[in-house]
Amino acid sequence: MSKSINIAFLTSGKSRGSNFEAIMRHLQEVDLPIRVQFLVITRADAPIKKRADFFGVKYILLDDKKSFERNLITYLEEYEVNLLVLAGFMRKLSHDFLQSFQGDVINIHPALLPKYGGEGMYGIRVHEKVFESGETESGVTVHRVNDDYDAGPIIAQEIVSISDCRNPEEIAHRVLEIEHSLYPRTIEKLAREYLKNHT
Ligand code: GRF
Repeated sequence: MSKSINIAFLTSGKSRGSNFEAIMRHLQEVDLPIRVQFLVITRADAPIKKRADFFGVKYILLDDKKSFERNLITYLEEYEVNLLVLAGFMRKLSHDFLQSFQGDVINIHPALLPKYGGEGMYGIRVHEKVFESGETESGVTVHRVNDDYDAGPIIAQEIVSISDCRNPEEIAHRVLEIEHSLYPRTIEKLAREYLKNHT
C-alpha cells in the first residue's frame, strides 16, 4: 500500500464550503492515510476560510485569473497532490492544465448529468430549471473533470425524489443533503483504490 494519498480542494468566488466540511468530517472518521494538503480560494473574503481554519487546513489565495493555473500547478506539484477535489469551483480548467496535472480531478454537480449541466448551470439556476421542467426526480453527480463544463466521465450518481418539492429552494436543500453523503463516500472509494494500486 502507498504511504498516503494527498488531496487538495479547489473553490472559487464566495464559496460557502458545505461539501468541504462534509468531506473533512467523513475523512476524520475513516481510518485512511489521507493528507489534505491545502484549499484554494479565489477571493480573500470567501466564507469557506472559516471552515478551513476549523479543520486546520491551509488555504491558498489565488486571486489573479491570468496566473491562476500556472500557480495552481506549482502548488499541486510542490505538495505532491494526487486528487484535486472541486467543491464550488465555477470556472473551466484548461486542456493544458488538465494535461499537465498528473493526478485525478473530480467535481460534484447538483443534478443528474448529462441533464441540467453546462455553462451557466450552477447554484439555484440548476434547481430552477429542474423545477420548471416538472421533474419528479433530481440528484447528484460526481464526475471526472475535462475541459468542458460538467462533461467529464461520471463516477457516481444518486437519485432523490423531489415530487413533493414546492419550489427550487426545496429541491436545492434536498439535493445538498445527498451531496454531503455522496461526495465523501466517493472520495473515500477513490482514495481506497489509489492506495491499493500504489503499493
Ligand atoms: C454545490 O452545490 C456543488 O454541487 C456545486 O457547488 C456547490 C458548492 O456548495 N458544484 P458548497 O460550497 O460545498 O456549500
